[in-house]
Amino acid sequence: MVPYKNKAWKEEMAVRLDFNHVMARFMGEHHGVFDGEIESLLPEAKEIHNDIKEKRARGDLPFMDLPDQDVKPVLELAKQLKKRCESFVVLGIGGSALGNIAIHGALNHPFYNELSKTGRKRAPRIYVLDNVDPDHLAGLLDILDLKKTCFNVITKSGGTAETMANFLVCQKALIDALGREAHGDRIVVTTDATKGNLKRVADREGYPCLVIPDGVGGRFSVLTPVGLLSAALAGVNIRELLAGASFMERRCRKMKVWENPAYFNAAVHHILNTKRGKHISVMMPYSNALYGVADWYRQLWAESLGKRRSLDGREIFAGQTPVKALGTTDQHSQIQLYVEGPNDKVVTFLAVEGYGRKMEIPKSYEEMEGIAYLGGHTLEGLIQAEQRATEYALTHHRRPNLTLTLKAINPFSLGQLFMLYEIQTVFSGGLYRINPLDQPGVEDGKVATYALMGRNGYESQKEALGAAKPKDDKYVLAL
Ligand code: PA5
Repeated sequence: MVPYKNKAWKEEMAVRLDFNHVMARFMGEHHGVFDGEIESLLPEAKEIHNDIKEKRARGDLPFMDLPDQDVKPVLELAKQLKKRCESFVVLGIGGSALGNIAIHGALNHPFYNELSKTGRKRAPRIYVLDNVDPDHLAGLLDILDLKKTCFNVITKSGGTAETMANFLVCQKALIDALGREAHGDRIVVTTDATKGNLKRVADREGYPCLVIPDGVGGRFSVLTPVGLLSAALAGVNIRELLAGASFMERRCRKMKVWENPAYFNAAVHHILNTKRGKHISVMMPYSNALYGVADWYRQLWAESLGKRRSLDGREIFAGQTPVKALGTTDQHSQIQLYVEGPNDKVVTFLAVEGYGRKMEIPKSYEEMEGIAYLGGHTLEGLIQAEQRATEYALTHHRRPNLTLTLKAINPFSLGQLFMLYEIQTVFSGGLYRINPLDQPGVEDGKVATYALMGRNGYESQKEALGAAKPKDDKYVLAL
C-alpha cells in the first residue's frame, strides 16, 4: 500500500472515467458521440475555458478556490460543539442540506446514528432536516434529548421559509427545555457574512456564526462551512476532503477537452442531450454510501442547467433531467425501462473498486446449483459483477453509459467528485450558453411562498397567484 497522502497515494486514489460506451464506435451513429463532434467543440471550449479563467481571476467563481480555505475556525467550533452535544441537527434545504447528506452518507458508518457513543468516537449523532413536514420534525423532536442537542441553521440568503420555520420551531423547543439564557450556545448559524435576517437574529441572540463566502451559491457550497462543520463534528477528515477537491481542480485546469475530465464529461452530455435526444441523465451508484452523492448531483445539474433563456435572452429551455438510481436495488425496478424503454437517457455508473468491508458468501446447499454458485464469492465481487452486467445490457441495447470508478470511498475521492461535477456544471453552462449560477425558477417559488404565507411586501404577488391559477371544481375528483 502506498503511504497515505503521498503524491503516489493521491495518484492511486484518482477517480477514473471510462467513456467508451458513450462513443459512436460502441453506440452507433444515432446514440453515440463521434470523436469529430468533440473536436468541433474545441474553439467553443477554448472560449469557455478562457471565460472560466477570467471569472476565477476576478473572484466570480470562488467555489474553485475553496480547497485553499483556512479550516481552523470550523475545526475549533466542531471541537467545542462535540463537548456540548450528543445530537447535532442541521436545518437547511437544497444546497444548504444536500452536501451534508452526501458527506455523511458516504463517509460515516452506514448506521452511524445507531452506534454507541464509543462507536461514534464520542461524536454526536447527525440529523439533517431539509423539509417542513410537521410529522417528520415532530418525530425528530420526540427522540431528541434537547438538553444534549445542538442545531446548525444553514441558509445563504438568511430567509428561506422552510429553514426559518424549522429554526423557529426548534429554537422555541430549546428555550422551553433549557431556558432563554442557556439555549444560546446550542445554536450555530451558517450564513452570509453580513446580509439576511438570520444574520440579524444571530447577532441579536449571540449565536456563533460561520460564513458562506460571497459568490458561492447554495449548490456549490458543500466545501464551505455549510458541509464542513457537521462533517468535522462527525470525525470526517475535512482537510483530506479539500485535498481531493484540490487534486481534481488541478486536473480540470487543462484547456484541451480530451485531457480535462470535467470538460469531457460536459461535452459528452451536451452532445448527447442536444443532438441525440438524451434528455435524462441518470446517476447510478453501486454503493449505498454514494446514493446521497447522486441526490446532490441531481440538484446541481437540475438547478444549474435547467434554464428558460440563454445569456442573450433567447428562449431555449435548456437542461437535462437528472435522475438517481441505486445499483443493484434499481436493477429490479428501473433497468427494464433503461434497457428497452425510450432511448432518451445517458447513465453514469459510480463504481467502487475497493469497498471498505469484505463479506464472503458462505458455501452452502452445494447440491443446488442455483444457490451453490454464489458460495465462496464475496458481496463485493457480486455487486461489481452486477454493475458490469448492467453496463453490458445497456451497451448491448445501445444505451449510452459511462463509468466513474472510485478506488475507495474516502474523503479524498469524495472531494474529487464534488469538484469534478461543479466544474463540469459551470463548463456545461458555457456550452448551453446559460448562466449556471442563478436559479430564477427557485426564487419564483420562494416569492410565491412568501405571498401565500402573508409576508408583508408580497401582496401583489398573492393577487397575481390567485388570478394566474383559477381552478374549476369539475376537475377536482372526490373519490
Ligand atoms: O442552490 C441554491 O442556490 C438553492 O438550492 C439554495 O441552496 C436553496 O434554495 C436554499 O437557499 P438558502 O441557503 O438561501 O436557504
